[in-house]
Amino acid sequence: MFTTALLSLAFAAAPALAHFHLNYPPPRGPFVAQMELSFCSDYPTGARSPFPLDSGFVDITSEHPSAIVGFYISFDADPTTFVQFNTTDNGTSYPMLKPFFSMNWEGELCLPVDAESVGLPIVNGTNATIQVQFNGGDGNLFDCADVVLITNYTVPSTASCSNSTAATSGSSASPITSIPTATPPAAATGSPTASSSSAALALQPASVGLLAVVGAALALTI
Ligand SMILES: *[C@@H]1O[C@H](CO)[C@@H](O)[C@H](O)[C@H]1NC(C)=O
Ligand SMILES: *[C@@H]1O[C@H](CO)[C@@H](O)[C@H](O)[C@H]1NC(C)=O
Ligand SMILES: *[C@@H]1O[C@H](CO)[C@@H](O)[C@H](O)[C@H]1NC(C)=O
Ligand SMILES: *[C@@H]1O[C@H](CO)[C@@H](O)[C@H](O)[C@H]1NC(C)=O
Ligand SMILES: *[C@@H]1O[C@H](CO)[C@@H](O)[C@H](O)[C@H]1NC(C)=O
Ligand SMILES: *[C@@H]1O[C@H](CO)[C@@H](O)[C@H](O)[C@H]1NC(C)=O
Repeated sequence: MFTTALLSLAFAAAPALAHFHLNYPPPRGPFVAQMELSFCSDYPTGARSPFPLDSGFVDITSEHPSAIVGFYISFDADPTTFVQFNTTDNGTSYPMLKPFFSMNWEGELCLPVDAESVGLPIVNGTNATIQVQFNGGDGNLFDCADVVLITNYTVPSTASCSNSTAATSGSSASPITSIPTATPPAAATGSPTASSSSAALALQPASVGLLAVVGAALALTI
């Protein structure tokens, strides 16, 4: 944790770029602020780590006082588009692993997740990819972890899972319902359909308005 804090001080001197760290499950590659702007932080599908099938958790560190965060899950062997994070190979759509919520503190957040909650017939050994989408007020950031879902898997005690003290002293993580369910960045490969791009455009004004409020709040704190 101390290392993380020191790194964040170092990055604070760089041009303003909200960022976050995916601590658990283990991300595909090392944290690079600029890469987080892209789908899965621009890393290809990599080594899979075991992850609890029904009682996992996702742990991140936010370096912004306020952010909109959500978790997706894909069961594709090599997902390269957002559609593969809400639709199976045979066209069955399913919800997010954790719908968007607001995180109103800077620091660590550990949220329980249940891969079975998306309602697909997952079995011991099912491969999956978890993608975190994070927006601290200046655009969407992404990071991914490749996993294999294991029944009754016990997470190693070295994996960090806790909330910063700020989380328990006033602010909290609360559900967000007025946020687009996906905002694919230009870097995402694949071919967006006409309906998906118009849906993204239609949702844009609401998110811009909300983010403007977040941005204004951030400006006041500087
Ligand atoms: C599509 O796949 C899911 C599992 O991924 C299965 O539950 C469902 O029955 C399949 N639907 C069709 C129409 O084949
Ligand atoms: C689940 O799969 C893992 C590895 O594939 C295996 O070691 C474990 O015994 C399996 N657990 C159950 C409950 O089948
Ligand atoms: C899961 O992914 C690994 C590669 O990461 C692959 O070798 C394995 O066959 C996959 N398992 C299943 C059940 O598809
Ligand atoms: C998983 O753990 C529960 C209780 O901890 C146990 O009842 C169940 O039999 C276990 N399942 C497997 C497949 O080992
Ligand atoms: C962290 O806070 C969130 C939101 O308040 C809560 O759902 C979660 O259980 C907490 N995690 C831990 C490890 O206490
Ligand atoms: C699935 O994701 C795509 C791409 O982000 C999006 O356009 C579409 O609306 C989503 N579908 C559902 C059912 O959420």
